[in-house]
Amino acid sequence: MDSAEGYVTDVSYIAGFYPNMAPLAMRYVAALNKVTPPQVGKGFRYLELGCGLGRSLTTLAAANPHGDFVGVDVNPLHTAAIEKDVAAGKLKNVRVVNADFAHVPRDIGKFDFITIHGVLSWVTANVREQVLQVAKKHIAPGGLLLVSYNAMPGWAHLQPIRAILRQYAQLRQGASPQRLREALAYLVFIRDKQAKYFEDNPRAAAYVDSLLQQDVNYLVHEYLHEDWKCFYVAEVAEMMSASANLGFVGSLPVFTNFWDLCVRPEFHELFRTTSNRLVTESHKDFCANTAFRWDIYGNNPKPMVTLAERLKEVDDFHYRVARKGITLPYQANLGVVTSTVQGALYQALLGVLGDRSMRLSEIIASDEMKGTPAEEVMRAVDAGVAMAMFDVTSGPVATATAVPAKVQVSNAFNRALMATESLGGRAVSLASEATGTGHALSDFDAAILHELVERGRDGLADRVETRLSGSGRSLLQNGQPVVDAAARKEIVAKAVDAFLTTTLPLLGQLGIVTQA
Ligand SMILES: C[S@@+](CC[C@H](N)C(=O)[O-])C[C@H]1O[C@@H](n2cnc3c(N)ncnc32)[C@H](O)[C@@H]1O
Repeated sequence: MDSAEGYVTDVSYIAGFYPNMAPLAMRYVAALNKVTPPQVGKGFRYLELGCGLGRSLTTLAAANPHGDFVGVDVNPLHTAAIEKDVAAGKLKNVRVVNADFAHVPRDIGKFDFITIHGVLSWVTANVREQVLQVAKKHIAPGGLLLVSYNAMPGWAHLQPIRAILRQYAQLRQGASPQRLREALAYLVFIRDKQAKYFEDNPRAAAYVDSLLQQDVNYLVHEYLHEDWKCFYVAEVAEMMSASANLGFVGSLPVFTNFWDLCVRPEFHELFRTTSNRLVTESHKDFCANTAFRWDIYGNNPKPMVTLAERLKEVDDFHYRVARKGITLPYQANLGVVTSTVQGALYQALLGVLGDRSMRLSEIIASDEMKGTPAEEVMRAVDAGVAMAMFDVTSGPVATATAVPAKVQVSNAFNRALMATESLGGRAVSLASEATGTGHALSDFDAAILHELVERGRDGLADRVETRLSGSGRSLLQNGQPVVDAAARKEIVAKAVDAFLTTTLPLLGQLGIVTQA
């Protein structure tokens, strides 16, 4: 019989799209780390274990119609919700399996990509072993696996918070959300009365405030399971190797693969003398106090050491300037370290990639890169991606084109999302077949887009305002609700204007919006 073994099932998780889960992101990290990623041009297979409400799974399926997607989850509320999204989005490439990890049907086959997000730290050791056995059995040769988890030492001072929440909630009666609320109230009480733990750990005291801002369903899933464990990177690497025969490849976000972007200069000498990647990762986590990791593992992947090999294996990636208005010197604040980029090579790259997306081979061959060694160009492009100066996409992205007067959203999945999630209080990520991933819009911009494609531009701001008033979602300015009717009207009109001039052209480039 299927069992969630200590995992909360009386309340659904929250739906969220995570770009790190895209095959695009996983493949790029592999390429950066000199590992050959799976080819995707002729199709690929993708499995998410513990897919929750499946928003990453379905968004990626919509963005990659040539891929074949399977999601497994034990909670029937979750799998039923995904089936509904699959039907509403007319997705033909998603299979949803309601099963626990010990009972995954054998016939699902092998996968080029397997993702396990939000599972490892929150299940029992037994379930961890089960999920890794599924991964071992179903990962294709050369396949990549993404795993996320709460990491040490970033969680060290916060672990007692989880213990207090869980212990208190266990003493209460009722459904999980109610017990969680009561436990949270208790936490606030002892924090405000300056219990010594909070006095000695001021960051834990501040953390309680951030919990109060979170969705209660998220908090139930984060804190109330029977098991909850934070891992050092080396522990997970050992588990992956011993249980699933997988080796460490790299991590996300992209900048975490560059230790010099993660640790302050005074530590650089230490890192320069370490050639063991896992030792580097462990030091890095201490220097950066890492609290959450997204790691990529590979099933005996083929090395891809030279530039020639990279151009042969993965020249399908396209690069472009991430957003308008990037100038040098460019500063990227990546948590612990602020890095600065300047110099002629980056100036030239900003010029080359400002108007159109290009493959690495095209960038290297461009007139502007003449005289610069190709390896240097590659390193600069990769560092630029790490620092969010450049974007990577799975295919070409259109140049800035004029937005047509009448627009449509052609993808049924995106249309269904806009209809159900606009003004829902959370970002709405729309799928782009051009980039192979999802792109977040605010729930307010999603409502503007929905009104625009449904009923055109005439009276757009008024219709958005009417819809906002009827939705129960408050309009905030500087954190305060705006109640004055004239002020509301003005704010909405400005937001609609900004959407039409800035966001809509971007959606056009991504192919999310097309001419009607
Ligand atoms: C925190 S959620 C993460 C959901 C999803 N990966 C996401 O990114 O939104 C973890 C999911 O794992 C599922 N899960 C927990 N234990 C499981 C088990 N033993 N077998 C199958 N699914 C399980 C839960 O039902 C839940 O949906």
